[in-house]
Amino acid sequence: MSDEQRSCSYKGFTVWFTGLSGSGKSTISDVLVREFKKRGIKHEVLDGDVVRTNLSKGLGFSKEDRDTNIRRIGFVCHILTRNGVVAIAAAISPYRNIRDENRKMIGNFVEVFVDTPLDICEQRDVKGLYKKARAGEIKEFTGISDPYEEPLNPEVTCYTDKESPEESAEKILNKLRDLGYIEW
Ligand code: ADX
Repeated sequence: MSDEQRSCSYKGFTVWFTGLSGSGKSTISDVLVREFKKRGIKHEVLDGDVVRTNLSKGLGFSKEDRDTNIRRIGFVCHILTRNGVVAIAAAISPYRNIRDENRKMIGNFVEVFVDTPLDICEQRDVKGLYKKARAGEIKEFTGISDPYEEPLNPEVTCYTDKESPEESAEKILNKLRDLGYIEW
């Protein structure tokens, strides 16, 4: 039987991406989703940009609002995970203590640090927001005028300036296998 026809045994867990705007969180999560589909793994994606149009609509970028946003995303991931569904969170999530709070609540938590240097994110400037942040048109912009706290012990670190999205996703899949969350 080919891999495409065989489903994979798995348990609920959360893949928590963290990294600067434009670091590649959504791009890698798209590849991961493709791999989960191939394996018949039930999953949901909570992308910061999308969540901010519904569940977190109206929230801004103060520390308080970001913490609320990340706690909401964490709570949804928690509910999915405990029901055996794989949750993928892709939000900047700049504050270490809120990420760690979610880690404790969720349990089966795999933190993926998308470690793309600020200058590369800024060169990419996919949404043109870094330019605006430098010009002072956007306040409290992560990496420019607002903090980003790197994870101290992430399960996986992705270097998008040196790896393709497929290579980054493969590293995550290997870790999920090592941790016993997925079979293949
Ligand atoms: S988080 O800090 O609360 O985790 P989230 O991932 O939901 O952030 O949203 C980040 C996205 O919002 C960025 O990718 C960018 O498109 C947009 N954005 C708008 N204003 C800001 C800002 N001040 N800081 C960071 N991102 C911003």
